[in-house]
Amino acid sequence: MFHKMERMDTQIYSSVENNATPIKPRGFIYTWLCLIITSLLICSLWYGQQSQKSSHTTHIPPSTTHTYTLSSHSAIRSRIIRNQSASHQMIAAYPQTGIANIDKAVATIIDSNTPSQQAHSNDIATRSNTITYRIIHQDDTTISLAVFVRTTIHRTLPTNTVHYWTFDKMSGQPITSSALVDTSIAGINEIVIALRKQVQQHYPHAEPVKVAGVITPESITNFLVHDRKTIGFLFDKRSLGIGVDGIISLKLPIKQLSHFVQNPTTKKLFDIPPSALSSTTDCVRHRCIALTFDDGPGPYTQTLLEHLDRYHAKATFFVVGRNIAPYSIALQQAVQRKHQIGNHTWNHPLLPKRDEAVIRQEIESTNSAVAAATGVTPTMVRPPYGGINDKVRAQLQLLTMPAIMWSIDTRDWADHDAAIVCSRAVTNATPGAIILMHDIHKTSVDAVPCILDALQKQGYAFVTVKNLFGHPLSAGESYSQYKQ
Ligand code: NI
Repeated sequence: MFHKMERMDTQIYSSVENNATPIKPRGFIYTWLCLIITSLLICSLWYGQQSQKSSHTTHIPPSTTHTYTLSSHSAIRSRIIRNQSASHQMIAAYPQTGIANIDKAVATIIDSNTPSQQAHSNDIATRSNTITYRIIHQDDTTISLAVFVRTTIHRTLPTNTVHYWTFDKMSGQPITSSALVDTSIAGINEIVIALRKQVQQHYPHAEPVKVAGVITPESITNFLVHDRKTIGFLFDKRSLGIGVDGIISLKLPIKQLSHFVQNPTTKKLFDIPPSALSSTTDCVRHRCIALTFDDGPGPYTQTLLEHLDRYHAKATFFVVGRNIAPYSIALQQAVQRKHQIGNHTWNHPLLPKRDEAVIRQEIESTNSAVAAATGVTPTMVRPPYGGINDKVRAQLQLLTMPAIMWSIDTRDWADHDAAIVCSRAVTNATPGAIILMHDIHKTSVDAVPCILDALQKQGYAFVTVKNLFGHPLSAGESYSQYKQ
């Protein structure tokens, strides 16, 4: 009897793995046929079993049996509970890892899925629950396992739910995806985007909105270790709109996340190659955006740096020379965190109205002050108010500096409203854009997490202006965006 049970476990799970591979349009019909046949087989097995049982159990009240069996996984036994009544039939396999916290956590989830624990179970005519588990991977310190819940109510199509964890054996607690990426929101977004992309590649007809609704930062709180190079996540196919029955197993090579997972927790679980990304991003291949902040540094610059850190975003600060002294620490931190510092003149004048000597003085004094505070000399100028003419260009040529304009003006100084500023930046975003903002306004800094979050979800990388262009710019020329 338990042999049959074990075979069914395998059958249910194998539909997971097989269907994770890409399916060609013609093959799609066959897959459906296979799915239907598999479901019929499982159903007939079930009903066969049920009628066999009922012939023996007529006139006997609901029964519960507990048995133990060796699972196919090294040294882990299963506690099988069968529960049968006129209205429902339930089989649940509980793993016995020998680590109390783990067994308890998994049992809690399994119990919450059993009919007796669920509301409305009384008015269900016939209901069957099969709860199985699978050890995905284990080593000395961790164990990855998944629990599959399959429910059939009155001969309708089965519903599947899946729960999975990677437990730390020492603490008995699950390790979260967030811990893997050092709580970086950018790291979580990177996983989410890669998983959605994988679904769209294998199932081109899947609706992006549906996929985006199911694969979210919240739905990837937990992860599986498949081997030391592969991280995995499980999803119900029906909720993704890519099938009527079954679970899809999505796997990512850990090296794809190497930029975010250079920490001891992750290195214990996976072989992490050195970060593929140095501090620069290839904007020929990636969608890049350069956020630029003018008129600082100021009282909100520090907070801005923290926002940027959380999203692994780089930005460019076009600073005003006279503001450097009071906020030199923020400026030093910006340099340490690999942001770019540009020159926005000393007094913020409209340059075309000034003499050549004043223009040069405005720029040179600011370069010196930045160099004195940070050790780095700016190589780019943003003329105040975007004011530029041939006279200014000639001076920039002498100073061997290009002028950096912008392609998106958030008009943050006019509105002082974080939601409006965010929406303007996000709706106008294009690959290669340079976005103009001012970090001397609190509302502008407040808008930054919203901008980073929304655009990162669209696959944008936030880079410095220098990184955006990727090659030296011509002195005296103006640039307002990067075009491939
Ligand atoms: Ni300005």
